[in-house]
Amino acid sequence: MTTDKKKKNTNDQWYHPSRDVIEKAIIKDYEKHYQKSIKDREGYWAEEASKLDWFEKWDTVLDSSKKPFYKWFVGGKINIIQNAIDRHLKNWRRNKLALIWEGEPGDLRTFSYHALNREVSKFGNVLKSMGVQKGDIVTIYMPQIPELAIAMLACAKIGAAHSVVYGGFSVEALAERIEDADSRVLITADGGWRRGKITDLKSIANEAMKRSPTIEVCITVKRTGQDVYMENDRDFWYHDLMTLPIASAKCETEVMDAEDILFILYTSGTTGRPKGVVHTHGGYTVYTSTTHRYVFDITDEDRWWCAADPGWITGHSYIVYGPLINGATILMYEGAPNHPYPNRWWLMIEKYGVTILYTSPTAIRGLMRFGEAWPNRHDLSSLRLLGSVGEPINPEAWRWYYRVIGKEKCPIMDTWWQTETGGFMITPLPVTPLKPGSATRPFFGNEVAVVDDKGKEVKRGEEGKLVIKTPWPGMARTIHKDPERFQEIYWKDYEKQGWYKAGDSARIDEDGYIWIIGRIDDVIKVSGYRLGTAEIESALVSHPLVSEAAAIALPHELKGNAIHAFVILKAGKSGDKQLGEELKEHVSHELGPIARPEEIIFSDALPKTRSGKIMRRVLKARALGQDEGDLTTLEE
Ligand code: PRX
Repeated sequence: MTTDKKKKNTNDQWYHPSRDVIEKAIIKDYEKHYQKSIKDREGYWAEEASKLDWFEKWDTVLDSSKKPFYKWFVGGKINIIQNAIDRHLKNWRRNKLALIWEGEPGDLRTFSYHALNREVSKFGNVLKSMGVQKGDIVTIYMPQIPELAIAMLACAKIGAAHSVVYGGFSVEALAERIEDADSRVLITADGGWRRGKITDLKSIANEAMKRSPTIEVCITVKRTGQDVYMENDRDFWYHDLMTLPIASAKCETEVMDAEDILFILYTSGTTGRPKGVVHTHGGYTVYTSTTHRYVFDITDEDRWWCAADPGWITGHSYIVYGPLINGATILMYEGAPNHPYPNRWWLMIEKYGVTILYTSPTAIRGLMRFGEAWPNRHDLSSLRLLGSVGEPINPEAWRWYYRVIGKEKCPIMDTWWQTETGGFMITPLPVTPLKPGSATRPFFGNEVAVVDDKGKEVKRGEEGKLVIKTPWPGMARTIHKDPERFQEIYWKDYEKQGWYKAGDSARIDEDGYIWIIGRIDDVIKVSGYRLGTAEIESALVSHPLVSEAAAIALPHELKGNAIHAFVILKAGKSGDKQLGEELKEHVSHELGPIARPEEIIFSDALPKTRSGKIMRRVLKARALGQDEGDLTTLEE
């Protein structure tokens, strides 16, 4: 498609917010606020930070002396829990529902802020009694049940960092993450419900603990009740511990430095080993709550539903922390959107009076496929805003979401951000005129650009690399145990300018609207989930018959992208359909079902550079029947 055509198409597609939305908006004039925020970035963030509770105020808003290892609110003392829970207990919000949780089989649990505080305090004391100390990293591997949020909050309260591993990951992914974090304590569950079946988390945890021997204590929540293997002296049931005298409901919230670690979250990158992205108490508290409040106009009347999993950054920032800091009522759901029928989500919106739904394009496309009759059976009139995250949303899905779910009255906040950014970076506000498929404009304080390899801005409408030119409080501080990699991956390409390289390509149209195109590195977004080609390849190569493998992403109607893996077998072996299935199953067992390749292609050779690097872009171009581009480095 030519640039001109794109221009014309996008110009035709403005969606303006209604007067109702504008009247309720906290921020009515984006441009004025934005200009002010970038003129005095530190002043802007200091003002937002002062809306929160601090044990001690900071001395310096931003310390850039050790770029790119920026520090925010230096000298400040804070704990995210003081803001997410403690301060709400001092006023009427103690009685407000913090969490409404529905299990897949239909069970329901609710927690007021008061009740949530009791659970978190009790579990904080349990962790302390197990020897967990300030600065330790506790690994959490759980289904979407309240105890997952409680475990995260309890760690933060006592000053330990958490490392949540998504419950859909499997043995090798979990083992690797436990080991990198040197975790002594693992919190898990016997299982969880997904599409009417039990996911066998404890067995996976048991196998992972065999591979990574650092775990001394494993605490298991009983969710599904099936028989699981529990090892003497290592394994404890959550419900047993919570009834012991050690589980007192009085637990002090630890005073933390603003720059102390709140959590690490592993994410996939260019190389094989996942990176433990580090976020801290001060900046992350300020950034998640500010972005959540302004982008979704949060008020006390809201019932907020972020239908992600807490195991990913979206769940960390916008199921657990941001909404609790803003005193919202959160809805959390354990299972699949189409179980037992494709109306599950719509029924839940009606039942709980959800006012804001925040989900992924994949989920929308998945539900769209069942047709309008399912949502149309339900009263969705409580909704006032919608949100999208994780991958570019195609205009067709956007329009369906807007028309069928939002009834043409709910603007869609298409938020672009990453594990590394902590919170929304490019996003509309409710008052922003929208174009389907564009994440629109930068959030306050952020200056972004689309540039070429040298850092020169590309022309309007042209594709280039997305960079963030200025620091923000929610930015990742480093990669756990690997500061060099942090510098190398994000900051080296534009070292002279001091810009953050996002790893995405994008274009900016003539109205200044930003359109994210997709990843330009070896990261694959499958159904919005982030995976690394190297992780998939190393899972394949761990199979005894595989000698070499290369994974690429090809477009997929529902998932956005699907994994296609090219495999060279060991000498003398030949591939067939059955082996293909076995290899898919092997990846699923090692990494998790989300990493299961769509297709395995047996091959005799792979295109490589002279230095032996696999040229995945050549494989991709060939598969798509496109121009293979510059082949000068290709070894014949
Ligand atoms: O490619 C972009 C895509 O997701 C990547 C970040 O993945 P992750 O760290 O798992 O975080 C996902 C949730 C914040 C980005 O580099 N991405 C995220 N949001 C959008 C998006 N692509 C297009 N539009 C979005 N709104």
